[in-house]
Amino acid sequence: MFKEEKKEKTNYGSIFVYCVFCFVLVVEVARLAKPYYNNLQNLMETGTPVVEEGFVDVEQSGVLPPCHSMRSRRSASVVPARNHEKLTGLIRREDRTRPPSSYCVKFESFETMAKLVTNNGDKYESRPFSVGGYNWTLIIYPNQNKPVGSGGFVSMYVRIDNSTLIANPRDVYAEITFLTYRSTTDKWHFLQETDAQRFHLFRQEWGQLLFLEIAYYKNPSTAGYIFNGGQSVFGVDILVSDPFKEWEVFSYDENIRDPITDWKLTRFSTRNLDSYTSEPFSSGGRNWVLKVYPNGVGAATGNSLSLYLLSASNEKGYVKAKLRVIDQKGSSHVEKQVDGWPNATENGWGYEKFIPLVDIKDTSKGFLVFDTLKVEVEILSFSKTDSL
Ligand SMILES: *[C@@H]1O[C@H](CO)[C@@H](O)[C@H](O)[C@H]1NC(C)=O
Ligand SMILES: *[C@@H]1O[C@H](CO)[C@@H](O)[C@H](O)[C@H]1NC(C)=O
Ligand SMILES: *[C@@H]1O[C@H](CO)[C@@H](O)[C@H](O)[C@H]1NC(C)=O
Repeated sequence: MFKEEKKEKTNYGSIFVYCVFCFVLVVEVARLAKPYYNNLQNLMETGTPVVEEGFVDVEQSGVLPPCHSMRSRRSASVVPARNHEKLTGLIRREDRTRPPSSYCVKFESFETMAKLVTNNGDKYESRPFSVGGYNWTLIIYPNQNKPVGSGGFVSMYVRIDNSTLIANPRDVYAEITFLTYRSTTDKWHFLQETDAQRFHLFRQEWGQLLFLEIAYYKNPSTAGYIFNGGQSVFGVDILVSDPFKEWEVFSYDENIRDPITDWKLTRFSTRNLDSYTSEPFSSGGRNWVLKVYPNGVGAATGNSLSLYLLSASNEKGYVKAKLRVIDQKGSSHVEKQVDGWPNATENGWGYEKFIPLVDIKDTSKGFLVFDTLKVEVEILSFSKTDSL
């Protein structure tokens, strides 16, 4: 059993080496046999899925599998460009189903358009369309090495209408994605720069020199970018992003002005409401209230007094404070610290079981004097979030 497996592996290995050798041989023959070169190219384009695979593999792994070495040789300029894109991580080249969000241009015949634009700077410029408060045009260069440096690629650009910029010079940041429709997969092939582009008076145009090989738009083609007897579709997403207009500042204040406040509850034993809330007081520039449940709340009901500190303006955030019930005869105050974000729904910061009711009623202790209970808060620090 073990032996057999091993044997099989060896066989695969030699087949692989043989295959690679064959590929290299075929490539070299193809290169030398120039007149047959174009035929071979067409042959390869009929294998649409294979072409696509090569595409994806180069993109995703950066490694060229041997099966696709022919394609890479055919358009040798492509691979370094893609690898470069991959390395910088700035450009995304993929397919998607969502159509262009800003504008679309359909050519009834790519071939005819390419011919007609030769006496117009070799470019097709769309009508203006409006995105993000600006007018834009989409520019497509269908011909070889137009603009210079594009080699065998279709180039795509966008231009911002400068009338608004002339009247009011400023920077416009926009994320740009160029797309072309592919009928075989019913998807949009796109090229996207991950960074937003900055447009201004002195940079009104930006685009991709190497959008897609012109060869894909040769008719007839099985790649799908040319369909219905010569049609092609190009599009663009322009996402203008305005700088933020609202913001907040989070800070933490430890030097509290007027940190200590006390509150006397007179005629305490006759108080029969569930809870009593103090007048608002200011501490550290913020308004607060104290809240007492004389007979307790929640788990403390009937056994302990509950005591809370609340923000009068309903601020959330971090608070560090000491809550006290004062011993008015001595100094055995009951003190508990809150230290954190509000942890009692509706009640801010505090404790259900602050002090047992029996201790309050115990006249030998000094919590209730002349039927008056005295509570106190010392605010040590709190965080602030200011909206601007
Ligand atoms: C965009 O173009 C239209 C038509 O040319 C024009 O009426 C409009 O004022 C332009 N808008 C901007 C923001 O330039
Ligand atoms: C504004 O755009 C037009 C059309 O592209 C161009 O001819 C003109 O020179 C531009 N003006 C400025 C000030 O950039
Ligand atoms: C609130 O937090 C304190 C600690 O800071 C904790 O002892 C107390 O039980 C909490 N109160 C509630 C109602 O969860």
